[in-house]
Amino acid sequence: MDTKPVTIPKLLYGTAWKKDATADLVLLALKAGFRGIDTAAQPRHYKEPLVGAAVKSAISSGIVKRSDLFIQTKFTSIDGQDPDNLPYDLDEPLEKQVHASVASSLRNFAYSDSDPSYIDSLVLHSPLRTLEDTITVWKTFETYVPHQIRQLGISNTPIQIVDYLCNSSDITVRPAYVQNRFYPATRWERDLRAFCRERGIVFQTFWTLSGNPHLLKSAPVQKLATSTNVEPPVALYALVLGLEGTTVLDGTTNETHMKDDLQGIEVVNDFARSEEGRPVWSELLGQFKKLIGEKA
Ligand SMILES: NC(=O)c1ccc[n+]([C@@H]2O[C@H](COP(=O)([O-])OP(=O)(O)OC[C@H]3O[C@@H](n4cnc5c(N)ncnc54)[C@H](OP(=O)(O)O)[C@@H]3O)[C@@H](O)[C@H]2O)c1
Repeated sequence: MDTKPVTIPKLLYGTAWKKDATADLVLLALKAGFRGIDTAAQPRHYKEPLVGAAVKSAISSGIVKRSDLFIQTKFTSIDGQDPDNLPYDLDEPLEKQVHASVASSLRNFAYSDSDPSYIDSLVLHSPLRTLEDTITVWKTFETYVPHQIRQLGISNTPIQIVDYLCNSSDITVRPAYVQNRFYPATRWERDLRAFCRERGIVFQTFWTLSGNPHLLKSAPVQKLATSTNVEPPVALYALVLGLEGTTVLDGTTNETHMKDDLQGIEVVNDFARSEEGRPVWSELLGQFKKLIGEKA
């Protein structure tokens, strides 16, 4: 089995809060061209079995090949779960909780008896209450890499935990992804993103639109939207991608937005590389970086 990690797409389709519409929306997203999916073994907010069913349907109808997809799920500790709807037994030790959660995720993404199930990225949804427990979970994650789980990540995390996972000698598999909010309260995670960039860790942003209404109205976003004939949300996504080392989580429920987002970021990309567009892009990206206090 080839265990080489697939390149993470620029936009990941986010599957939170879609309830019973999850399968239809994921299938729509795959048809629109999304090749990355973010979900979680957290039934309170995500319907992972329906995500798996949609992916299975897309594969069996020839829309995508499994090898072209980046599938990411999460292990969520009890603090983020509905205690009455858990993918593990809370009376079991933490390692066993992780094994049960991962086993249920692998089952949700199993497509045929001949192809062993695998997940491209397993993210720890949030550090646990103690560093010791966080390490226990991470060490359990490591036992699956690279065959059943290709890469590991962590979400809702302060920089200190990422630093620990990157530098401590008891950690064997370093994080490949960090998934955090992108919004003013954390200064758009300027320091953590710089830390990640230096180490080749991809920073996955969420709340990119909902956490930034003022950025959507800002001059660089508005000017980029007009210059490239895309909608402001697409221009904002493109500028966030322009920060480098970033991937954006996009959970739109609207088919037109799905298509416009995927096409729009490529339109902006082409513009940014064109002779006429390059100086405009460079100027607007500079203004955007200034707005979010990005270090030069
Ligand atoms: N790790 C974590 O703790 C965590 C927490 C939250 C989210 N996430 C992940 O991130 C994903 C995204 O969540 P999010 O909170 O960032 O927001 P989101 O679910 O992507 O919501 C975006 C909002 O903006 C609207 N919108 C308007 N124009 C749009 C456009 N062109 N493209 C996309 N949306 C547009 C959408 O409405 P329409 O539906 O009408 O387009 C929607 O209401 C989730 O599904 C989940 O996978 C992770």
